[in-house]
Amino acid sequence: MPASAGDPRRMARDLAAAARVIRDAKTVRVVTHIDADGISAGAIADITLERLGKEHTVGFEKKITDEVVASVNSSPEDVVWICDLGSGYLSEFDRYGLVITDHHVPDPRWRGRQTILDSFGGVQHLNPHTYGIDGSYEVCGAGMTYLLSKEIDPANVDLAYLAVVGAVGDFQDSSNQRLVGPNAAIVGDAVANGDLVVEEDLRFYGRDTRPVNQYLQYASDPSIPGISDNPKGCYELLDSLGIQAKSGGRWRSWSDLSREEHDRAVDAILERLGPDADKAVGEMYRITRYEKGTGMSDAKEFATVLNSCGRYDDAPTGLRVCRGDVGALKVAEENRAEHRKHISTALSYIRDNHLLRERRFIQWFDAGSEVRETVVGIVAGMMLSSSDCRRNIPIIAFADSDDGVKVSARANRDLVDRGLNLSEVMKTAAEIVGGFGGGHTVAAGATIPPEKKEEFLDIVEDLVSSQIE
Ligand code: C5P
Ligand code: ZN
Repeated sequence: MPASAGDPRRMARDLAAAARVIRDAKTVRVVTHIDADGISAGAIADITLERLGKEHTVGFEKKITDEVVASVNSSPEDVVWICDLGSGYLSEFDRYGLVITDHHVPDPRWRGRQTILDSFGGVQHLNPHTYGIDGSYEVCGAGMTYLLSKEIDPANVDLAYLAVVGAVGDFQDSSNQRLVGPNAAIVGDAVANGDLVVEEDLRFYGRDTRPVNQYLQYASDPSIPGISDNPKGCYELLDSLGIQAKSGGRWRSWSDLSREEHDRAVDAILERLGPDADKAVGEMYRITRYEKGTGMSDAKEFATVLNSCGRYDDAPTGLRVCRGDVGALKVAEENRAEHRKHISTALSYIRDNHLLRERRFIQWFDAGSEVRETVVGIVAGMMLSSSDCRRNIPIIAFADSDDGVKVSARANRDLVDRGLNLSEVMKTAAEIVGGFGGGHTVAAGATIPPEKKEEFLDIVEDLVSSQIE
């Protein structure tokens, strides 16, 4: 999927206007999302405002609700700066001094430059979709926040690596096996500033923190024949290559392998992958300020640490981690252990109870109260890349939440190439049953009334089948 040409001049003009609004404000309230992208974005905004000497606060939200809209509209600060959220609900904001740096599909009821508020410069809406850039893989919420930060002060290039964490946290590197478009330029900033190194490697998850045999065993998308889901196969492969899985009684990680061992293993794995080999390699991003093995050095693993905080009501710890607070790392480490446990319990629960159901155009499961609503999307994504699922239809997941049922939808990118847009599906289907939703083409979500699940699935199935060629 190539990078779009976009409209960089218009984006530059809007960034300059938004930078003026931030510089002119005395007080700023930052509202950001609780996931890895949102926390990275919040940290970039926080540090930017701190450097400007602005009085400011940073708060986290799971999603935009009526209460959040009302609170934003009535906030006494000169400016409210919303990161990684907000675009889907643009028509509901009616305050002056609003800056949005987001990448979700914008609210279709909001007509760019036509609202009265906007003609007075009330809303600075910075979203790649409005410049012909694809917000699902070319730049994320943290990326847009970073671009504004850099516009405010070029010295803020030292925050570029946080935008890279946000981008990989939102899987923006998946479709091309590397970051492209504005994301690639942000990678360039971080590399030039000495904060990031780009490495060509296998792109499976956990190269620093998983024991090498588990790293191979859990390899998916693409899965390695005879290795993925096959512990015995992993041992045999390592054995045949003369690679010790342990050293000095400790498990070695993929990153612990020597250059020769690494290259030998890559050759053997690529051979096993055959025609899928091209899909397994690409760019990985290493953050230079952290030691390998800390779980903070690989950008993708850093993003997991942030998710382990934000999705368990502890986003402020994630923010402190992004600010380099060493004390926060220990808490984050505990959060990560909890997150791992929760995810693996969730996956076993769904499998052991045979909760996955198949329809013609979609598959779905209802995790009830067994999976947190903030994590059900991650679980759905993991299910979709496992052998339990059909890869050629979307997956829809339900989890109980305080204000109804949380829905998460995920699909593979080849379906998007055939016309699928889960953001539209979630938004339309949710509104028909009295809920709300939105997101991206490949990953979207909604909240709906509990008694409407069946009806919702029927509508989703209709919409999916009508979108796909
Ligand atoms: O929660 P989940 O990870 O499934 O969300 C997928 C994407 O959909 C996220 O980017 C989220 O912000 C978006 N979403 C939304 N409106 C909702 C729920 C999720 O825009 N009601
Ligand atoms: Zn995001």
